[in-house]
Amino acid sequence: MICDNLTVGQNGTLHFARQDTVALAARYGTPLYLMDEQKIRENIRAYKNAMAAHLPTGSVPEYASKAFSCRRIYEIMAEEGVHIDVVSPGELYTAKQAGFPMEHCFFHGNNKSDEDIAMGMDNGVGCFVLDSFDEIEAVEALAAARNITQNVLLRVTPGIDPHTHRKINTGTVDSKFGIALQTGQAMEAVAFILQQPHLSLQGFHCHVGSQLFDVAPLLDGADTMLTFIKEVQTRLGYTADILNLGGGLGVRYTENDPVIRYEEKVAEIAAHIKAVCAQLQLAVPRVMLEPGRSIVASAGITLYTVGSVKEVTDYKNYISVNGGMTDNPRYTLYEAEYTVINASRAAQPADYTATLAGRCCESGDIIQRGVSMARPERGDIVAVLTTGAYNYSMASNYNRIPRPPVIMLRDGDSYVAVRRETYADLCALDE
Ligand SMILES: Cc1ncc(COP(=O)(O)O)c(C=O)c1O
Repeated sequence: MICDNLTVGQNGTLHFARQDTVALAARYGTPLYLMDEQKIRENIRAYKNAMAAHLPTGSVPEYASKAFSCRRIYEIMAEEGVHIDVVSPGELYTAKQAGFPMEHCFFHGNNKSDEDIAMGMDNGVGCFVLDSFDEIEAVEALAAARNITQNVLLRVTPGIDPHTHRKINTGTVDSKFGIALQTGQAMEAVAFILQQPHLSLQGFHCHVGSQLFDVAPLLDGADTMLTFIKEVQTRLGYTADILNLGGGLGVRYTENDPVIRYEEKVAEIAAHIKAVCAQLQLAVPRVMLEPGRSIVASAGITLYTVGSVKEVTDYKNYISVNGGMTDNPRYTLYEAEYTVINASRAAQPADYTATLAGRCCESGDIIQRGVSMARPERGDIVAVLTTGAYNYSMASNYNRIPRPPVIMLRDGDSYVAVRRETYADLCALDE
């Protein structure tokens, strides 16, 4: 199986985090997001421990909470003693509701309104990641109005193409994120921030892309950023304390994806940073990494109930399930690959090929094409694997379909982290 938290039980059904998925589907209903709390903790600890072992004191992972955001995940991150990044006032509010220590919260985003910035400051957000000249002015003005000094990072666009999907590629020079290094604007922005009396520049941030199996783009990013840090030191006399290299390490969606050990990747990145700093005669800065997908993706699966198996003679087979693009829009967005299993018949040969279709009134509502599984019957439970990242957080109510609950699995037991939406919830905002 693609992850060590998946097995086939003696009864022939799929087990996840040592629990029978078919029994969980019967207990909680479908569609259903299941999350393995132990796997989330293992993944974040892999980063935390490796960063503590190989990088200067104060180097910690920041969980990129856009990947999966609800109160419970912020509680877990607080318990694990790591930092978080938020990209919206909604994520900030949720983290606050969970009692997450706001001084360990980094506020990202390419368009923070004055209200967003004020909310961040009034809640004591540790650091704003500045994304444009307009934002530098806005954060300065709001900090001045409160007579505080606000810690900030500058997001720099390093001009690196990691060759992933164009929609998850964020570090090229013409990205909507950050301020470009190649054009000289990043250097101007540093000089501008240093002139602001209410901003305290802590260092620099970049994010080159996502679903990376090779660390090469991250190492290129580190080279570019460290060279920039050196140039800033020489030209402006400012030495960055923090280098934040963003997130991006990949996860196994299918058997074709390699197994990736995050502690090894962190060690590789750390060794590279130290070598480059030695060459540049630069003190090694505190390093931050912002993993999202690699913390939660492998900790999640989604269960559906099969409604119909339609065989279009001489063409193809469709298996329709009771969820779809509303709980997982990633195939519709960028043809993301997934592994699918007939959880009810996990011990049987996966010899039936079909397209797994959602229930929405939209031909593009496909969860995966060309899946192979034991031929299902109406009522079977189908599991889509590795759905812990960018599934629940991207879910919608299209076609007025209520969002599934998130059930956390822990120590052989389960609990509701997010309850199922009801039809009444769907009308709750209608006046
Ligand atoms: C600034 C930033 N940090 C971190 C992440 C998390 O990336 P990933 O989920 O690939 O680790 C993203 C994802 O888009 C991002 O834009």
